[in-house]
Amino acid sequence: MSRWRSKPDVSWQEQAKKKAALEAVSLVKDGDIVGLGSGSTAAFSIEEIGDRIQKEKLKILGVPTSYQAFIHASAKAIPLTTLNEHPHLDIIIDGADQVDGALNLLKGRGGALTKEKIVASASQRRVYVVDETKIVNKLGTNQSVPVEVLPFAYPTIMLKISEMRGIPILREASKKAGPVITDNGNFVLDVDFGPIENPVELNCYLKTMPGVVETGIFAKIADIVYIGKRDLTIQRREQRPNKNT
Ligand code: 5RP
Repeated sequence: MSRWRSKPDVSWQEQAKKKAALEAVSLVKDGDIVGLGSGSTAAFSIEEIGDRIQKEKLKILGVPTSYQAFIHASAKAIPLTTLNEHPHLDIIIDGADQVDGALNLLKGRGGALTKEKIVASASQRRVYVVDETKIVNKLGTNQSVPVEVLPFAYPTIMLKISEMRGIPILREASKKAGPVITDNGNFVLDVDFGPIENPVELNCYLKTMPGVVETGIFAKIADIVYIGKRDLTIQRREQRPNKNT
């Protein structure tokens, strides 16, 4: 093994994420158009979709939610398409940063929230995969809310968010000087709101601010969440069918 290659991470969390991701991918059928999520958990599902295409000769097309997903899917020879050609998808499989009891999610630690939400909104079935550390009573508990904003608007948005008692921080890049630039050419604010009482309301309020592109609050979006547990069992939680009413 090359001295540069890191040892495989075999912590329970990695195993649980992988097992749960494989379970989610078992929902994918031949002929499906599949949204490909971003982050380390979604990466397990992209890996499995690629393997199933090879082994089972499936005719599947993927819509990546980020450059990360695009590069990974290309490396796995997953045929890709766009919303232009396929504005309606059968299923999306993605990760999340937090999940509450009503299956509302916080997403966007990887900065891909906008495309993740667009592709989810285009998908018939929205499936998320997490390990059990992501389950919370209230979203926002010890976790900031990512908000993608136009660079032109960020000082005004930071002020408005501070006035509503959020604490916004402009996300800094780690391998580049200055702010993170998203795949869409925007900035990300990480906002500490503390535990969120009403995720639907907060999401709607933030989206009224000119220059806010999208928020990481995915309220009433998830249909199914697979949770990889510490004992390596998988729990499946499902949204009641009338979630949009
Ligand atoms: C990226 C996301 C990711 O899905 C989320 O951050 C979870 O990532 P991971 O599976 O690596 O914990 O929303 O924008």
